[in-house]
Amino acid sequence: MVQAGTAQAGAYERVYSGWKADPETFWMNAAEGIDWITPPSRALDDTQAPIYEWFADGTLNGCWNCVDRHVEAGRGDHIAIIHDSPVTRATKGITYRELQKRVASLAGALRAKGIEKGDRVIIYMPMIPEALEAMLACARLGAIHSVVFGGFAANELAVRIDDCTPKAIIAASCGIEPNRIVHYKPLLDKAVELATHQPDFCVIFQREQEVAKLIEGRDVAWHSFQYGIEPAECVPVEGNHPAYILYTSGTTGAPKGVVRHTAGHLVALNWTMPNIYGCGPGDVFWAASDVGWVVGHSYICYAPLVAGATTMVYEGKPVGTPDAGAFWRVIQNHRVKVLFTAPTALRAIKREDPEGELIDDYNLRSLKTLFLAGERADPDTIHWAERHLKVPVIDNWWQTETGWAIAANPTGIELLPVKVGSPTVPMPGYDVQVLDEGGHPVAPGTLGAITIRLPLPPGTLPTLWNAEDRFRKSYLEHFPGYYETGDAGYIDEDGYVYIMARTDDVINVAGHRLSTGAMEEVLASHPDVAECAVIGVADDLKGQSPLGFLCLNKGSGRTHDDVVAECVRLMREKIGPVADFKRACVVERLPKTRSGKILRATMVKIADGQAFKVPATIDDPVILDEIREALQGLGLARV
Ligand code: COA
Ligand code: AMP
Repeated sequence: MVQAGTAQAGAYERVYSGWKADPETFWMNAAEGIDWITPPSRALDDTQAPIYEWFADGTLNGCWNCVDRHVEAGRGDHIAIIHDSPVTRATKGITYRELQKRVASLAGALRAKGIEKGDRVIIYMPMIPEALEAMLACARLGAIHSVVFGGFAANELAVRIDDCTPKAIIAASCGIEPNRIVHYKPLLDKAVELATHQPDFCVIFQREQEVAKLIEGRDVAWHSFQYGIEPAECVPVEGNHPAYILYTSGTTGAPKGVVRHTAGHLVALNWTMPNIYGCGPGDVFWAASDVGWVVGHSYICYAPLVAGATTMVYEGKPVGTPDAGAFWRVIQNHRVKVLFTAPTALRAIKREDPEGELIDDYNLRSLKTLFLAGERADPDTIHWAERHLKVPVIDNWWQTETGWAIAANPTGIELLPVKVGSPTVPMPGYDVQVLDEGGHPVAPGTLGAITIRLPLPPGTLPTLWNAEDRFRKSYLEHFPGYYETGDAGYIDEDGYVYIMARTDDVINVAGHRLSTGAMEEVLASHPDVAECAVIGVADDLKGQSPLGFLCLNKGSGRTHDDVVAECVRLMREKIGPVADFKRACVVERLPKTRSGKILRATMVKIADGQAFKVPATIDDPVILDEIREALQGLGLARV
């Protein structure tokens, strides 16, 4: 395997074709990068195809691989985690040895309260090291964690509680947003009240910014429940034992519980650190995301730690904490080698500091590469970053489902020429195919559904939690033999992949994946709303922004402004601030086909001021003029 720093021409081609010729050997070699209790006898188990598993008969422990083995190897005094928190004005470093002690103690306390291998534990925490410690403590015991992003409302947390039925919930008393304290504890209490399933106990990490009231008999305090506890050793688990469940938006209100198996996850992430990101032990890797998202799971927690690097836990924003120089300060102060963030964060910085003047105030010599993911990287943002940071700016494309990059520029193997607008080429393990509606491969340059020929590589989802039928239906049925990514795009003559749009109702707001279907369910629950539609319109900062259309019940008698304001509030209450749902308009009717399908794509084109053809199947074309007028009232639909 090519190590970082030994990049050479043609190396990617050799590595990729080496994998394609013999995937089994490729992944068995990669598996040597992690510690096993019992090494696997083979990489792929395809006996249940099209459901596949990797390294199923090996045994290992995730926490051991991310923490203990580095201490054993004499690297206990190296920094594992740096917490930089402009919102609390605090910075601290935690060594691998300290991390081992803290995680073993937390795991011991969880075990003493009955948490065992296979039990689920929900983690609802802000960007503090304790969030990673909670994840690792679960991994130490073989418990399955499910981290829920802090920007979700109590209702969304309740849905997840009922789906994964956790024995325990670990939460912080509060989170800190620049403009307010997020009261996690009342949100947690409300969620437990709404849920049918009840956890045995909740562990609360009390922050000094807000000390929460504990419920006697159910809640325990993070520190006191560890007092006098015997630390837990690492529990061996099978390679196909679930490490975590991470919920993501699907086409209905019910989120999909993406399952991640322990061994494939660690093997794949460990492979990516030197080969894609050019990082290894001693390097500081910063994924400026949140532990609640897949980027946070993979690149704030597991990948940097399995590779023995230092990971940044940044509790702040790209702008406003205190200014658009925040990222550059962090890079300078902690000698960050790789920054991984969403294009929207750079757009926010660029908007406040278009000439990049704040960049000049800092010494960014340590920064070698900037990686972007989570949404399409627009050329303006890439060029701005290249101009001002003077390092390669690398787009990479993946999903919650895959857990690591499907397409990237493998900088540790070979820095391929960057083509702006493309996340470059498929990574080993991914045979990316663009198919037409009939499932036939299309010619280079032709738009189609982006699929991956089965099996997916290690580290990707083997199934959905308690929903194998939904897994098959959502991803495997449309194109037999292939995994359907839900993205549309093309591959050019040089094999570069281009991601152009989603084929379903998922929209991407500030790098956050949201379902318009789920939002429509919320709007439809308003008593005055007879019918509704939600679309994602283009947004200069956030990529896309949700917009609702409401048809009111006859004779509702309410003012439009009142209903819109109530719908905005309802969305915040039901899905949470992360939905960023701030705009809606009342219309008489929605444009539909004669068979009754709402023409959302046409509405998006009108809103974005793009040319469009009136669909031949439209029921009544006049409605499109009414829609345009309503959108113009919101300052949209300008050509
Ligand atoms: N807990 C609670 N609330 C949260 C939250 C969290 N962890 N994260 C965001 N929110 C809230 C925000 O406070 C905001 O609430 P408001 O409506 O009361 O202002 C709302 O959710 C929307 O937040 P956000 O999308 O972050 O918008 P913003 O206008 O506050 O900030 C950016 C804009 C571009 C600076 C911000 O979106 C950003 O940093 N994006 C990067 C995203 C990212 O890293 N994604 C990871 C994918 S790789
Ligand atoms: P999530 O599961 O939240 O990571 O969102 C995954 C979706 O975000 C993908 O299916 C794409 O639609 C989009 N996405 C992620 N990264 C990229 C990228 N680099 N370019 C284009 N779209 C992206």
